[in-house]
Amino acid sequence: MNETLERWSSRRAFILAVTGAAVGLGNIWRFPYITGENGGAVFLLLYVAFVALLGLPVMMAEILIGRAGRRSPMQSLGHLAARAGHSRHWRWLGLFGAFTVFCILSFYSVVSGWSIEFLISAINGDFVGQDAAQVGAGFDAFLADPWRMTFNHTLFLAMTMLVVAAGVTKGLERLNNLLMPLLYLLLLVLAGHAATTDGFGPALAWLFTPDLSAVTPTVLIAAMGHAFFTLAVGACALMAYGAYMPDHQSLPRAAVGVAVLDITVALLAGIAIFSVVFAQGLDPAEGPGLMFVTLPVAFADLPFGAFWLSLFFLLLLLATWTSSINLAEPMVATLQGWGLRRGRAAAVVGVTVWLVGLLSVLSFSSLADVKPLFGMNVFALVTTIPPEVFLPVGGALIAVFAAWVLPEAVSRHALDAGPVGFRMWRTTVRWVSIPLTLVVLISGLI
Ligand code: TRP
Repeated sequence: MNETLERWSSRRAFILAVTGAAVGLGNIWRFPYITGENGGAVFLLLYVAFVALLGLPVMMAEILIGRAGRRSPMQSLGHLAARAGHSRHWRWLGLFGAFTVFCILSFYSVVSGWSIEFLISAINGDFVGQDAAQVGAGFDAFLADPWRMTFNHTLFLAMTMLVVAAGVTKGLERLNNLLMPLLYLLLLVLAGHAATTDGFGPALAWLFTPDLSAVTPTVLIAAMGHAFFTLAVGACALMAYGAYMPDHQSLPRAAVGVAVLDITVALLAGIAIFSVVFAQGLDPAEGPGLMFVTLPVAFADLPFGAFWLSLFFLLLLLATWTSSINLAEPMVATLQGWGLRRGRAAAVVGVTVWLVGLLSVLSFSSLADVKPLFGMNVFALVTTIPPEVFLPVGGALIAVFAAWVLPEAVSRHALDAGPVGFRMWRTTVRWVSIPLTLVVLISGLI
C-alpha cells in the first residue's frame, strides 16, 4: 500500500510537519479566548503544566505507535495489538480518533474561513482608522451572513482536501519550511510593539500572576483539553504522521522542540492580544471573537499597519491550513485503509465535513438558539466537547496502548531515546499522565 511507503524526506521535515500540525488556530485564536474565559494566569499555568505532564508524553506515545505500525492509525493499532497477543479491537481507537478530528475540522474550517474574510478586508484597508468597537460591529455583521461564511468555509476546505488528496508529505514540506519562521518573526514584532503600549503592563500582570484559589474543575478541564488540542494530540492524527517518520530520529527531542515552539507562539499571540484588550478596556472573556476584534487594532498604529495585518492573516491562514491537513489525515487514512483510493477518500471526507460545518455556520444566524445538548448550540458544542472530552479520552487510551499493551522492545525501538530516556518516558506515562488525565476527566464529570 502506497501510504506505508511515504516518508518525510528528513528529520527536519518531520519536525516541521508536526509543528505545522500543532501551530494553528489553537495558538492564536483558541488560546487567547479560552484563557480570557478562564481567568487568565491560573489557566495559563495549568495549561503549561498539562503540556509538560500529559501533552508531551502522550504525544510521544502517539507518534511512537504510528512509527511502530507504519500503517493508517486503525490498522497500526489492530496489527500491533494482535502481534502483542492483545485484542484487535484496539483498532476502534483509530476510528474514535477519526470521529474526533471530524468534529474538530467541521468548526476549524469555518473559523479559518473567518480569517479569509479578515485577510481580504485587511488587504482592502477596511480596518484603517477603526477602533475595537467598529471592528466588532463589522465582525458581527459578517457572522450574521451565512452565505459569505459558507463561501469561505467551502474555499478553505477545498484548499485542505486538495493537498490531502495529493499526499501530505510532498505538499506539506515546502509550505512548512517557509511559513513557520515567518509567522514566528511577525509575532515577535507584534509582541515587541505591544510592549510600547499602555495595555502591556496589565496584560502581563493578568497573564502571569496566577491566583491559585481560582482553580475549579471547569478551569482544569479547559486547560487539559487545550493542552491536547494545541499539540494535536489525542485523535491519532500525529499517529498518522508518525507512520511516515524516518528511522534514526529521537522522538522525545523532536517532541520537546515542537512543544516549546507551540507554547511560545501562543504566549506571543496572547501578549499581543491582551495588550489591546487592556488598552481599549475590552472584556477578556469576550469569547471566540476575541482575536478578530483585537488584532486589527493591534496593528493599527504600526507604520504600514494594513500591510502587516494582511501579512499576519495570510500567515495565520497558512498555519491553519497545515493544521487542517493534519486534521483530515486520520479520516482519509482510515478510508484508504478500507480500500478507497486516496483522491476519492479525500472527496468523501471533504463533502461530509463541509455539510456538518454548515451547522457551525448557521450557529451564528438561523440556528443560534437551537441547542441540542447541554444548553449549547452546535458551534459551542463542537468547539467544547471534542477538545475537552474526546481528546483526553483518546489520549489516555493511546497512552495505555503505548505504555502497557505494546511489548517493551517495540516501544523502546520506536521511541529511539536510549534506555534511560525510555524508562523516564514510560514511567511518566504510566504513573503520571494516565492517572492525571483520568482524575481531571472524572472531576469534570462530577
Ligand atoms: N493543534 C492545532 C491547532 O492548535 C489543531 C489540530 C491539528 C489538532 N491537528 C489536530 C487538534 C489533531 C487535535 C487533534 O490549531
